[in-house]
Amino acid sequence: YFVDKGNHRHFMEKEIHEQPEVVSHALAHYVDLGNHTVDPAATGLIDFSSLRGLAISACGTAYLSGLIGKYWFERYARLPVEIDVASEFRYREIPLSADQAALFISQSGETADTLASLRYCREAGLKIGAVVNVKESTIARESDAIFPILAGPEIGVASTKAFTCQLTVLASLAIAAGRARGTISEAEEKQLIKSLAEMPRLMNAVLNTIEPQIEALARELSRYKDVLYLGRGTSYPLAMEGALKLKEISYIHAEGYAAGELKHGPIALIDENMPVIVIAPHDRFFEKTVSNMQEVAARGGKIIFVTDEKGAAASKLPTMATITLPNVAEIVSPMIYSLPIQLLAYHTAVFMGTDVDQPRNLAKSVTVE
Ligand code: G6P
Repeated sequence: YFVDKGNHRHFMEKEIHEQPEVVSHALAHYVDLGNHTVDPAATGLIDFSSLRGLAISACGTAYLSGLIGKYWFERYARLPVEIDVASEFRYREIPLSADQAALFISQSGETADTLASLRYCREAGLKIGAVVNVKESTIARESDAIFPILAGPEIGVASTKAFTCQLTVLASLAIAAGRARGTISEAEEKQLIKSLAEMPRLMNAVLNTIEPQIEALARELSRYKDVLYLGRGTSYPLAMEGALKLKEISYIHAEGYAAGELKHGPIALIDENMPVIVIAPHDRFFEKTVSNMQEVAARGGKIIFVTDEKGAAASKLPTMATITLPNVAEIVSPMIYSLPIQLLAYHTAVFMGTDVDQPRNLAKSVTVE
């Protein structure tokens, strides 16, 4: 491929801004946007109806998209999901059987540990699906079913558009699995797909409004050495993704935690020197997450509150900044909330002057164990 940066300073910035377009390509491949149904031709490559369980393995950002996928497969398809980072998955001697299927998520399709997990599952007789960006890759070639994410070439080492496209594909597959297993109705399918169809418009709206605020906040964030991200439900893997993005490109130490685990450790670290980024859309978990935020505030912690209009109106806690996104359906919140998370890491890194597209010690594709 020849890809250039266009008007952007970095590939990462370009790739962040491409997301409304690429997620809409990915979605159009898996769903019928006229009827708001999943497209059996694209999603039916694995027969979900008779599965006893699903195994998912991946590394890095792809692993975190898989973790969000787990919430969806379990909730919408009532399908138990076993997931681990590929470097553990391949050695854990997980009891697997042929009535399970396995999904391997990989942007490059070449990650050594992910490929080894695939071969392990093949030995165990599982049906293999590959959620990949590079369709000609080894992981794609060794799979029974390829689920392309259609993100286009991703050059920045820190994954952005591949992540939201992986999420789009996993959400579509979870809905397809739910229909195949009779765990969601036709009406629920339509509603979920209508929500997914809103994604490109919502992403554009967010990208067109929040960047000046995020840039100013990034300047402030760059003065700190440690940052904690908290979230609940699908916002928990997103908190880990936020922390991963920040540490990868700005070299600021960051951790993502389940909001409910705050009390079991990280609360000991709370002081004015460690900002806490709370990812809390106004969903079923909002009140719980806000009560964790309260615990941070009570200890003098500085809060960056990433929420929606309803959430911003509902909380009166003092914050260092509140990033207010539109109110969105629960299934699209991980994709929409990815944007402020990515932009905050990006602008912090730019402000600190690191090599954003090729951060030190990291590789785009890790083909050795
Ligand atoms: C490396 C990259 C990450 C990526 C991970 C998995 O660590 O820097 O951006 O998420 O590998 O790569 P894959 O190609 O398998 O998605």
